[in-house]
Amino acid sequence: MASSPIMMISVLSLFFIFTANARVFPRRSLLDDPPAVNNFTFVCDPSRYDKLGLDFSSFGFCDSSLSFPERAKDLIDRMTLSEKAAQLGHVASGVDRLGLPPYNWWSEALHGVSNVGPGTQFDKVVPGATSFPNVITTASSFNEDLWKTIGQAVSTEARAMYNLGRAGLTYWSPTINVIRDPRWGRTVETPGEDPFVVGKYAKNYVRGLQDVEGSENVTDLNSRPLKVSSCCKHYAAYDVDNWLGVERYSFDARVTEQDMLETFNKPFEMCVKEGDVSSVMCSYNRVNGIPTCADPVLLKDTIRGNWGLHGYIVSDCDSVKVMVEDAHYLQDTNEDAVAQTLKAGLDLDCGQIYPNYTESTVRQGKVGMRNIDNALNNLYVVLMRLGYFDGNTGFESLGKPDICSDEHIELATEAARQGTVLLKNDNDTLPFDPSNYKTLAVVGPHANATSAMLGNYAGVPCRMNSPMDGLSEYAKVKYQMGCDSVACKNDTFIFGAMEAARTSDATVIFVGIDLSIEAESLDRVDLLLPGYQTQLVQQVATVSKGPVVLVILSAGGIDVSFAKNNSNIKAIIWAGYPGEEGGRAIADVIFGKFNPGQKDQIYPNLSIQGDK
Ligand SMILES: *[C@@H]1O[C@H](CO)[C@@H](O)[C@H](O)[C@H]1NC(C)=O
Ligand SMILES: *[C@@H]1O[C@H](CO)[C@@H](O)[C@H](O)[C@H]1NC(C)=O
Ligand SMILES: *[C@@H]1O[C@H](CO)[C@@H](O)[C@H](O)[C@H]1NC(C)=O
Ligand SMILES: *[C@@H]1O[C@H](CO)[C@@H](O)[C@H](O)[C@H]1NC(C)=O
Ligand SMILES: *[C@@H]1O[C@H](CO)[C@@H](O)[C@H](O)[C@H]1NC(C)=O
Ligand SMILES: *[C@@H]1O[C@H](CO)[C@@H](O)[C@H](O)[C@H]1NC(C)=O
Ligand SMILES: *[C@@H]1O[C@H](CO)[C@@H](O)[C@H](O)[C@H]1NC(C)=O
Ligand SMILES: *[C@@H]1O[C@H](CO)[C@@H](O)[C@H](O)[C@H]1NC(C)=O
Repeated sequence: MASSPIMMISVLSLFFIFTANARVFPRRSLLDDPPAVNNFTFVCDPSRYDKLGLDFSSFGFCDSSLSFPERAKDLIDRMTLSEKAAQLGHVASGVDRLGLPPYNWWSEALHGVSNVGPGTQFDKVVPGATSFPNVITTASSFNEDLWKTIGQAVSTEARAMYNLGRAGLTYWSPTINVIRDPRWGRTVETPGEDPFVVGKYAKNYVRGLQDVEGSENVTDLNSRPLKVSSCCKHYAAYDVDNWLGVERYSFDARVTEQDMLETFNKPFEMCVKEGDVSSVMCSYNRVNGIPTCADPVLLKDTIRGNWGLHGYIVSDCDSVKVMVEDAHYLQDTNEDAVAQTLKAGLDLDCGQIYPNYTESTVRQGKVGMRNIDNALNNLYVVLMRLGYFDGNTGFESLGKPDICSDEHIELATEAARQGTVLLKNDNDTLPFDPSNYKTLAVVGPHANATSAMLGNYAGVPCRMNSPMDGLSEYAKVKYQMGCDSVACKNDTFIFGAMEAARTSDATVIFVGIDLSIEAESLDRVDLLLPGYQTQLVQQVATVSKGPVVLVILSAGGIDVSFAKNNSNIKAIIWAGYPGEEGGRAIADVIFGKFNPGQKDQIYPNLSIQGDK
């Protein structure tokens, strides 16, 4: 395969076990859960107990003079086995007679509060949240402060949404799998191919999401307060989704001990040890034959034992079911799978196997109560650290004005600017001086990109600024799509784009891919621009009156060596998937308001905590 000028490509080492499995696992069905919108302030509110007709003072788990583990034990000891089982899925039912409300553990905040998890929703009360660039873009800034600052902004919006009853407190982000092949469909979610950079990103984003100012260094990590809870996922050796029939639910990654330590473990180790993350998620795949969520060496010994996790381990959604139904691991029954995973150290099932089969597993003598109580303890201590039981977090005043604030929108723009990569700039063609370029041909399938800029695991953005919007601030724009979509199945629209290029002072061509080409459950088979996009670029470049700038929107690398060699194309920019303010950021780079070669430059008017 061709090599990419954008990314160094690691040797393909993972695609050698082929297991055909035609069934597409219905992960999305979990999204049909009823949203668990919190309609109370905190559990141990005496007036709540009065209204429920329960005697508040009799519940030791509400006694704030005890430690969190002691209070969690008190709560768990009051539950029957069936009540315990009902708390072990991502939809925890709560226990009415104890005044324990239901809780949905599944919220997501990969690059802004997302509505992919059913614990979070947008509606009239909260119509949108700041949608930052996708992680592969933000990572390209190599700016650790920026990564942390974005985490802080996201957790502020998440807390505000929680106060408004529209979000949870437990966020299953970030994704910190190392990219081993740029064709992986989830490249967009990750900080890249370098285990150390990925680990640094993890540490900073997790600290931004979780840390409560002033308590970063609390020594008793079971009591350290959390702004929101973050989760590093998906552990481990997970980096193939669906590649020519090889798919994640049945994939068995064969990994050497050296590769495990140096590549796959490293970011997770940094996430736990340096980030003090409060959750880790195990993946769908197997490692050397064993499903990751059932492997005590990976979970109990490594994450909790060697690295010292203070928090809970959650399965990817339906991982336990996948063990039984897709991997057919040891011909397991549901009860076998519950026993193996609980003993391995899995605390929470994103799914329904734990709630449905824990009781029968105990009845069959396959697992002891100690494993169940341990799991619940890990879960409740995290909720206590979040202030879910006691309130009084200091975040109560956050509300609507803290979501989509001007400051956060500016931070999203700045992140997109800093994540932009200049790949070619012959004869210092960029930046453009606006007085020399009064008309711009803005062409290509991404010239008016909107939702494509948001990538995956996005929520509803505050607003949207497309490339055309951004460039219109600097020059008169002639817009032509050039293709009907990124698939660009025919050359019908190329003529219009050529015409615009012939009659403008300069041409900016926006090409690339989107989630129809690279996505979760969708790996690519090559690195080329789809359909007639290459032809569009070549033909437009041949006839353009002024200099041509090529802008690529993608997560995984695209082979643009044809454009690097083309002397009519003066500049090439990779913008990743730059988030809701992407157009403005790209225009600022093209017209010199921001220099993408100067990675340490911080936008001077930015005054958000944590930034320089
Ligand atoms: C609050 O949540 C409880 C538990 O889900 C539910 O029974 C009750 O109806 C809800 N109240 C409101 C006002 O939504
Ligand atoms: C926590 O420790 C770090 C490293 O020693 C230090 O830089 C930071 O100032 C400390 N924070 C607080 C709030 O004490
Ligand atoms: C779990 O039980 C519920 C309620 O009986 C049922 O609707 C659901 O299909 C079950 N799920 C699994 C995976 O067994
Ligand atoms: C740069 O400009 C000079 C002078 O116009 C020209 O000779 C040269 O070919 C240009 N180089 C590139 C790489 O475009
Ligand atoms: C650009 O995209 C937006 C959002 O999809 C759409 O409303 C608008 O009409 C498009 N503009 C043009 C000129 O096609
Ligand atoms: C090219 O694509 C357009 C839009 O999808 C379609 O209307 C047209 O018929 C296609 N032309 C050819 C020659 O296939
Ligand atoms: C680009 O130019 C290099 C060096 O001249 C050449 O080896 C390569 O084949 C060219 N690639 C393309 C795609 O034209
Ligand atoms: C930044 O602040 C300076 C001084 O307050 C102001 O003149 C300038 O317009 C600001 N720039 C932007 C881009 O907001």
